[in-house]
Formats: sequence, structure tokens, C-alpha cells
Amino acid sequence: MNPAPLFPADLFRRQDETPDAEFYHHPRFVAHIDDAAIAAVTQLYREYFPPNSALLDLMSSWISHLPAEIAYRRVVGLGMNAAELRANPRLSAHVVLDLNEQPNLPFQNQEFDGAAICVSIDYLTQPVAVLRELARVLRPGAPLVITFSNRCFPSKAIAVWHALDDRGHLALVQRFLEEAGGWQPITLLDRSPAPGHSDPLYAVVARVALPQNQAVID
Ligand SMILES: C[S@@+](CC[C@H](N)C(=O)[O-])C[C@H]1O[C@@H](n2cnc3c(N)ncnc32)[C@H](O)[C@@H]1O
Repeated sequence: MNPAPLFPADLFRRQDETPDAEFYHHPRFVAHIDDAAIAAVTQLYREYFPPNSALLDLMSSWISHLPAEIAYRRVVGLGMNAAELRANPRLSAHVVLDLNEQPNLPFQNQEFDGAAICVSIDYLTQPVAVLRELARVLRPGAPLVITFSNRCFPSKAIAVWHALDDRGHLALVQRFLEEAGGWQPITLLDRSPAPGHSDPLYAVVARVALPQNQAVID
């Protein structure tokens, strides 16, 4: 008998199962978290993404929250709305792709030095496949910074997200990364700026595991 799947398909159902292209057809030039939570995201990027690196902003829009004072060699945005991506001043290139239709990333192996998914991981119906692809397109040792708050488009968030609280979301994202494989270490962070006064901000930061025989030189 086959063992029960780790993530049964029901966990990824959504209230709105119409194609995502319809939901994201019109641009939304809005911020999805408040200024203090955005500042916490920017601070994480400052800490983890080296200057002059090549970055992938997955599930991107018109804002990437990257620190204004730091220049990056290349920033590629992938999202659902072309007008939002075109308006994003940090992007050097963009791709419109529905990851729920096609979780394979149109990038080369080890093309990027870092990647971000901001307030969006809860919309992926195949998160393990996407995270496995991210481990392929990032170079060994590169960071992936996944951030989220307690807000979402409810009809488009996966069922398991609605079933869990903030701590549960951190544990869920960690399990997705473990199931994808190739991520080590995985760090869970609470970077909420001012509890009760701003949106909370949580992060799961993972690095692409180094080959076993590769020494880390400090
Ligand atoms: C809440 S917005 C967050 C946008 C941006 N990361 C930010 O921090 O403002 C969710 C984003 O996820 C993207 N997205 C949602 N479903 C997607 C899908 N199926 N494939 C690719 N991107 C998707 C949308 O294009 C949208 O930009």
C-alpha cells in the first residue's frame, strides 16, 4: 500500500479556483503590508542579499522592497501582471508566468545569487515544486528570503494557510522547503516591527545547501 501523501491535495484547494490570470488581469498599484512591515522586509534583504548580486523577485509586482541605497547587478521579477512588473523600477527584466499552471522556472541552473518571495507563498498550489526549482536556479549557498504577514487575498490563498496561525505558517513553509530538498540551513524569524501597532512580519530564510565536500571559508 502506498503511504498517505505528505501534503494531501485538499490542502491546496482555494475558494476561487478560476485561472489566476483572471484574478490578476487588472494591475493593483497598492502595498500589501504597511510601511513598517515593508521596512522589515527591506532590512532582511539588506542583510542577506550582497551588493552587485543577481536576484530573482518571485511573485513580484510594482515594488520589490529592495534597499534603495544598494545596487544589484540584475533583478528579474516574475509575476502575473505585466503592467505592475513594467512599472517596477528595480527590475532589469520581467517574466509573466502562472506558477500554478507551470511551476518550472524559465531560468538556467545557478543563474541567481539570491531570491525573494514577499507576501505571496500562500498563493502557490504547488509550493514544493516551485521551491525545488528555486534550489536549481540559485547558486549553492545563495539565500531565499520568504516573507509573509497575516493578510492575504482570502479567495486565492490555499486552504492549509487558512487553517493555520502565524507560527503554523512558519512551520508549514519550513516543511515545504524540507520536502523540496536541497535547502540547508532553514531559519525561522519573527521580524514584526511593533506588535499591535503595525502588520506582523515573519520570514523563513533558507540557503541552497553546499555540496558536502565544499568547505565554508569564513
Ligand atoms: C500580494 S501580491 C505581492 C506582490 C509583491 N511580492 C509585494 O511584495 O508587493 C501577490 C503577488 O503574487 C503574484 N502571484 C499570484 N499568483 C501567482 C501565480 N499563480 N504565479 C505567479 N505569480 C503569482 C501576483 O502577481 C502578485 O504580484
